Amino acid sequence: MRFDVITIFQEMFSALEHSIPGRAATNNIIDINYWNPRDFTKDKHRCVDDRPYGGGPGMVMMAQPMHDCIHKIKEKNSTAKVIHLSPQGQLLDQDGVKYLAAQENLILLCGRYEGIDERVVEQDIDEEWSIGDYVLSGGELAAMVMIDAITRLLPGALGDAESAEQDSFTTGLLDHQHYTRPEAFNGQKVPKMLLSGAHNAIARWRLREALGRTYLRRPKLLKKRGLSKDEQKLLDEFIKEERELL
Ligand code: ADE
Repeated sequence: MRFDVITIFQEMFSALEHSIPGRAATNNIIDINYWNPRDFTKDKHRCVDDRPYGGGPGMVMMAQPMHDCIHKIKEKNSTAKVIHLSPQGQLLDQDGVKYLAAQENLILLCGRYEGIDERVVEQDIDEEWSIGDYVLSGGELAAMVMIDAITRLLPGALGDAESAEQDSFTTGLLDHQHYTRPEAFNGQKVPKMLLSGAHNAIARWRLREALGRTYLRRPKLLKKRGLSKDEQKLLDEFIKEERELL
């Protein structure tokens, strides 16, 4: 999958050279290309921002360099989807990540300052996405989050041991808890079930814990997903045990 990232801070993206996105790039599963809107300015100071019409604090990214940059990229990839990372966008969740991972080419536009001239948003952008209800200093961190989450879903990006199928949210549930050695730490033991070697029983225990955690921490996720009869039975068991502990 190809990403074309429009940013004035390409250096920030060195974080993606590590770990899973780094390996995916080495294996040609993803290909990230960077574009600096300053290269599309027409003044000698290579200015990409200006004061807002109507007054107010901060600066606004100018339409022309952004517009020309997007069109340059689209000359070669006319079907690429243009995404603007913005707190005004649709909230990114795992379903959104799945949808984006099914695209062949994304152009990710990272704004800075107070935002981008609205005419670029209206004329050149296909979709706006937000990674959460808070304001970042620019779209770069959001673009990195998006690239990382998408990459995990691309065939071959994860080894078997890292399979995305078990990730939180892929099943519509939060993940169950994890433990590794030692068996006892600071007086606390690993749950006995996990030491039993009984694979089916362990899988059911993990599902029950995932259902229980989702019920306690993110009940709206459960509502959205719905439960099978068997899952409902496991959740009832979990709730009953929780009550007994109180
Ligand atoms: N740019 C600034 N804040 C953002 C957010 N929450 N999501 C995506 N892009 C952003």
